[in-house]
Amino acid sequence: MTDQTVSMKMPGGDHDYPVLEGTVGPEVVDIRKLYPQTGMFTYDPGFTSTASCESAITYIDGEKGILLHRGYPIDQLAEQSSFMEVAYLLLQGELPTAAELDHFTYTISRHTMVHEQLATFFRGFRRDAHPMAIMCGVVGALSAFYHDSTDITDPEQRMIASHRLIAKMPTLVAMAFKYSLGQPFMYPLNSLSYTGNFLRMTFGVPAEPYEVNPIVENAMRRIFILHADHEQNASTSTVRLAGSSGANPFACIAAGIACLWGPAHGGANEAALNMLREIGDVKRIPEYIARAKDKDDPFRLMGFGHRVYKNFDPRAKVMKATADEVLKELNISDPVLDVAKELEQIALNDDYFIEKKLYPNVDFYSGVILNAIGFPTDMFTALFALARTVGWVAQWNEMIADPEQKIGRPRQLYTGHTQRDYVPVDQR
Ligand code: CMC
Repeated sequence: MTDQTVSMKMPGGDHDYPVLEGTVGPEVVDIRKLYPQTGMFTYDPGFTSTASCESAITYIDGEKGILLHRGYPIDQLAEQSSFMEVAYLLLQGELPTAAELDHFTYTISRHTMVHEQLATFFRGFRRDAHPMAIMCGVVGALSAFYHDSTDITDPEQRMIASHRLIAKMPTLVAMAFKYSLGQPFMYPLNSLSYTGNFLRMTFGVPAEPYEVNPIVENAMRRIFILHADHEQNASTSTVRLAGSSGANPFACIAAGIACLWGPAHGGANEAALNMLREIGDVKRIPEYIARAKDKDDPFRLMGFGHRVYKNFDPRAKVMKATADEVLKELNISDPVLDVAKELEQIALNDDYFIEKKLYPNVDFYSGVILNAIGFPTDMFTALFALARTVGWVAQWNEMIADPEQKIGRPRQLYTGHTQRDYVPVDQR
């Protein structure tokens, strides 16, 4: 709290509201007393000016294009860290010592298998089900399998549930993929890294040994780190809102998965690659740029723009470099990458995009890499969900432990009918 207050002129007189100060970033007006004092609410659809919670996990400066996890810049983490290290950092607040990292990695590896009964649960889905549809179902279903970690009042159970979610997501995402192919599920192999194990469960088959390609493993490590957390985005806020009622952690993460699926959020990686494929040739880019600018056309450049970043998304920079590296090292020439690069250049020099500060976001290049690795487009958002689970559980734990935590309950500006009398059906 600062000594500053903000004075609001209200019909019944002036009211002062305290100004809260974080360690960095904009100050926040504390309006908790607004309604009891004045009988008025604030109106903020999309929460563009509303801080819904206090958090010490992730900081974004959208104007400068900065993203920090527990203070560490995302590019340093993506370059130098492992996904397990970032997961520990987000959950525990500090980078682990070597011994802590070993212990954490071991703990996660002990939870990678899923209850055998879950395999039959998968069989209830059509083979052509979208992997995100499957993920909404099976992650929610975990709450029916792991009763011993659903008491959210017990910090130990909360941590076990968090470890289970981080450990089982790769297994479940890989199972969703295998199910679509009609191939047998692969059991985890805990001697491999988190990403190596995921690649083997996804692309390996029981009939042959699977060798993890270190270039692909490294690219996946980076992609997972770049998606691990992003403060109070829509899916994280969904997880927090679901959790605020005391719902169990598996159900809360399933809620986050549902929200992530949308094309304005995590579904943008799938939509961006589909768009790049549809454009197909650099010659057709002007046509799509014109459509994106046309107010009467709902088309948007997928992978462009961000609620918070009004500058380059720092994750997009790392993603672009990774796309170049992976395609070169795998010796793949993909015309989609040429379309992406040219589209980026044209958009970045176009007045419409400059004025609205629309830059490529994390999803613009990730699809190109995932496509090169061999993932079908409908798997992209499931991979995002896998990585974001770490952020979701870290934010969920922070919320449950926060003494200020209350059930989330926004208010509304009601514009419907005032009270009127019921009219029987034969008189309407
Ligand atoms: N293409 C064309 N115009 C755009 C785009 C775009 N991708 N994004 C925003 N605009 C325009 C929009 O039409 C609006 O114009 P006007 O002021 O004339 O009405 C203006 O820019 C502001 O857009 P907004 O929708 O009010 O901004 P927002 O903060 O509510 O939306 C967004 C942010 C990410 C939903 C939006 O930029 C978008 O739909 N982008 C495409 C989808 C996408 O790539 N999403 C991934 C986001 S990053 C990963 C994640 O967090 O999941």
